Amino acid sequence: MTLHEPKPLACNPGAIAGMSEKIIVSHYENNYGGAVKRLNAIEQKLAELDWAAAPVFVVNGLKREQMVAMNSMLLHEVFFDSLGASSADDALSARITTDFGSFDRWASQFAAMGKALGGGSGWVLLAWSPRAGRLVNTWAADHTGNVAGAAPLLALDMYEHSYHMDFGAKAGAYVDAYMNNLNLAAASQKLAAVAGD
Ligand SMILES: [Fe+2]
Repeated sequence: MTLHEPKPLACNPGAIAGMSEKIIVSHYENNYGGAVKRLNAIEQKLAELDWAAAPVFVVNGLKREQMVAMNSMLLHEVFFDSLGASSADDALSARITTDFGSFDRWASQFAAMGKALGGGSGWVLLAWSPRAGRLVNTWAADHTGNVAGAAPLLALDMYEHSYHMDFGAKAGAYVDAYMNNLNLAAASQKLAAVAGD
């Protein structure tokens, strides 16, 4: 089996205004790194499984946990890509305006979805849906709720480990800091890769 390797931290953790280097590095090492390690351990178990003899609860449990760990790895990669203030290119700017009315309308919807998860957990994603032919803001619980076929361009992590060290229970202040640091250039590159021009 091929082991999954953690990607290097995409953002500069000392340059995210309003968030400490300590929380970003801890998040990267412990939560993202933990998901990659867990995924490798689960896939090792799957590689050794006697599929014909295994009880269904073992098959279900391992495949469920594989999905949780895999999407945790992938969504955390989009999350770290999402940090580092930069501008959208013309294609992303035009799509946001077409699909949400304006950048500010998109941003207020996205931030409200994050704040609505304060005290709970989950992800807020901006994703390109080829089926809908548009950008969508979606909610993802337990790392597993991305729209089938859609490509996430931005990911906001609302699990408590993302903000508690810096913000305590003030999830809203964390969402505001995240919105002030959007790496829209990276999101533009992701959109170009999946939607073209
Ligand atoms: Fe996280």
